Amino acid sequence: MSKAYYVTTPIYYPSDRLHIGHALTTTMADTLARWKRMQGYDVFFLTGSDEHGLKIERKAREQGTTPQEYVDRIVATFKQLWQKLLISYDDFIRTTEERHIRVVQQIFQKIYDQGDIYKSEYEGWYCAQCEAFYTPTQVKEFEGGLCPDHGIPVEWIKEESYFFRLSRYADRLLQYIEDHPHFIQPESRRNEMVSFIKSGLEDLCVSRTTFDWGIPVPTDPKHVIYVWIDALTNYISALGYGSGDPKFEKFWPEAHHLVGKDIVRFHTVIWPIILMAAGIEPPKEVFGHGWLLVEGGKMSKTKGNVVDPMVLIDKYGVDAIRYFLLREMPYGEDGVYSEEALVRRTNTDLANDLGNLISRSLAMIERFAGGVVPEPGPEEEADRELRELAQSLPQAVDVALDRYEFAAALAAIWKLVARANKYIEDMAPWSLAKRAGAGGSAAGATGKGADNGAAAGTEDAAWARQRLNRVLYNLAETIRVVTVLASPFMPAMPDRVWPQLGIEGSPELASWESIQRWGALPPGTRVHRGEAVFPRIGEQGDAAVAEEQGAKNQLRQTAPKEGKRHKEHKEQLEKKEAARVTEPETELISIEEFARLDLRVAEVLAAEKVEKTDRLLKLRVRIGDEERTVVAGIAQYYRPEELVGKKVVVVANLKPATLRGITSQGMILAAVGDDGLSLVTPERNLASGAKVR
Ligand code: MSP
Repeated sequence: MSKAYYVTTPIYYPSDRLHIGHALTTTMADTLARWKRMQGYDVFFLTGSDEHGLKIERKAREQGTTPQEYVDRIVATFKQLWQKLLISYDDFIRTTEERHIRVVQQIFQKIYDQGDIYKSEYEGWYCAQCEAFYTPTQVKEFEGGLCPDHGIPVEWIKEESYFFRLSRYADRLLQYIEDHPHFIQPESRRNEMVSFIKSGLEDLCVSRTTFDWGIPVPTDPKHVIYVWIDALTNYISALGYGSGDPKFEKFWPEAHHLVGKDIVRFHTVIWPIILMAAGIEPPKEVFGHGWLLVEGGKMSKTKGNVVDPMVLIDKYGVDAIRYFLLREMPYGEDGVYSEEALVRRTNTDLANDLGNLISRSLAMIERFAGGVVPEPGPEEEADRELRELAQSLPQAVDVALDRYEFAAALAAIWKLVARANKYIEDMAPWSLAKRAGAGGSAAGATGKGADNGAAAGTEDAAWARQRLNRVLYNLAETIRVVTVLASPFMPAMPDRVWPQLGIEGSPELASWESIQRWGALPPGTRVHRGEAVFPRIGEQGDAAVAEEQGAKNQLRQTAPKEGKRHKEHKEQLEKKEAARVTEPETELISIEEFARLDLRVAEVLAAEKVEKTDRLLKLRVRIGDEERTVVAGIAQYYRPEELVGKKVVVVANLKPATLRGITSQGMILAAVGDDGLSLVTPERNLASGAKVR
């Protein structure tokens, strides 16, 4: 029987639309659920909505509707968001559902019957937004009588209430925390909670009489059960607790609650005590992550800085948003969201590192192996390193995820991406191809008959063919492994990669088992290079694109963007960029910074227009004894035929960029003035490869 895994998000208040902070917890939980499912666990992933309370009742009244109608409308928007964010929940619990109400009443009654809940009178400061009472000690913090969270006045309220004797369970809880070191994570929050419990627990008010929108106390219905007993119980009501549903027995011992740091105390003090009092084991683990902040601190409606994940998904795509959330949050601590940071992450990690790895590798398989993944030649040291790194990853990522270290898990996968990009540079498949005499013919691509290739006869050519085949095979296999590992984080990505890698419809090659073994990708697989898997989003700095835009200032330009969803953002950036390029350049650079540029004389061997563009030319250039493809935005100034044989200056150490599906391996320098554009050429006839200093 497969192992069970139960993961939950907080149930969110339908008091408003959800923002990117809520998306963070839910994306984390979804990633864990997908990861465990991939490993063969029987997963139950729960999310939901926390629908009772004064705040909801008031909101509904303000809008002239009933609380039920109001929550129905907002909860529908939750579900739309989760669908768009590809949240694969197994159940969505609403606290207004009968199956939930029944369990809450049952738990309340049980605790009451055994004397842990008693009736008394409550007096205290109350914040209607928090729906929480504050003790006189806490109220000192509210300078001016304002709630620190919401900035609204707290009210002094006196009412008959039921109380839960939390203090009775303090020692048992401390013991539980000590015996279960993983119960509260990260450790800093565990320590915080231990001190909090040791400082003494006050009895908790668990019912209210000043509003109706809640679950009635079974034996005293003028009281409604105060929100935390109601809300927390969702985690077991959804499993059918008390109804004989086998889900409870199966999943509850494996419960992992993911929550923001704001509600760690409810989940690690109140919740385990409710459960202990009801004779149920506490959950296995509670992980409290930090806040996602925006410039200026917390998101709030009054500040007008609430970030809507729906808008971001439409603009940048679901993978980019999920990747950003998971990669950018430091473990257990607060992280900061900004659109610039999102664009930067997407462009560096996704478009440049992973996107280019995929497009370069597939382009080389097309060019040097007839578009077919070759039978690999013998393994050498560099191949072994790449393979060993790839083989160590499933476990490394697993360990990181078991500790909720999402950023570390992604960083581990990206180590392989970086290693593979470096492997391309080190192995220089284009040089191997030249030595092997391979120019795109499928002959020799399977490794058989390598000696019959264009450069047949020489031992060196046969060796180069074998090496080339091994390198190309390893690159394709790396793309497969990375895609499988990244799929729980970015579930939309495999659908774009598999058709290009030629293994669409082969789920066995996308499985957890298949990445335990290096070499599962069958040689002979035909690749189909298509659109960039991760298109760049507009941003300064990509030189090849600078050319595409008819460059005013070649080294400081806006990057390319393809697809509708980037259009608006592109326009904004273009405006910003246009404003910037007209400003005089005052920033000085050091000689060392200049020396980082590898400028070389190159000879243009061939030139042609790039289809469906007015501006782009694809040039084949020679730099010393290496040939490269460079895409340049000069078609409006030069005809292809007049360029052949010209000597130009190329930035040779620029990261490759993909333009219209063509990988550009450098940038050609041009000067731009009011009277047009001119390529920069050496004044004397120098050999290609000469360094420009
Ligand atoms: N209804 C309660 C939870 C009950 S769980 C039994 C509640 N709901 S909430 O709508 O306010 O959502 C709170 C949760 O949303 C946080 O604990 C956190 O998981 C997530 N976040 C809300 N804003 C957030 C950030 N700015 N950053 C990160 N997470 C945030 O509390």
